Amino acid sequence: MPTRLRLSLASLATAAATAIMPASAALAAGDEARGQQLYDKHCLVCHTLEPEFHKEGPSLYKIWGKRAGAVPYFGKYKALKGANFVWNEKTMDEWLADPRALVGGKDSGMTFRLENAQDRADVIAFMRTLK
Ligand code: HEC
Repeated sequence: MPTRLRLSLASLATAAATAIMPASAALAAGDEARGQQLYDKHCLVCHTLEPEFHKEGPSLYKIWGKRAGAVPYFGKYKALKGANFVWNEKTMDEWLADPRALVGGKDSGMTFRLENAQDRADVIAFMRTLK
């Protein structure tokens, strides 16, 4: 096969792959560095990343993949008290969008919402590194 034809077939395949990628996959990727900036701006006031150093909210040290509401020595759980799920892309996205919605309308000490979906994807990309 002539080189030129092989090349154009390859670029055709790439174009097809790009075309079928759903928009949500692009969002789900998230930008970790931007996520860290957003974390510093919005979350740090209530959450440290140091083990057992709690502020208004629990420390988020190694929170990724852990059971919700189970950070040691954090005594101020409301909505997450007795929670029975783990932190993954889906639960974290729902929590950050609206903490009360995730827990069936229970009051939460976390009054903050991150309404922009791209901001959430970026913060989640950063949260994934906390393990
Ligand atoms: C006004 C203070 C406040 C802000 C701002 C805040 N949180 Fe929270 N957060 C809390 C409190 C309080 C809880 C405990 C919720 C409960 O049980 O009702 C919590 C719980 C959490 C949990 C669950 C931890 C666990 O123990 O399972 C995560 C994850 C979390 N917050 C992430 C974030 C992120 C990311 C941001 C920034 C986008 C943020 N929070 C902003 C106060 C805050």
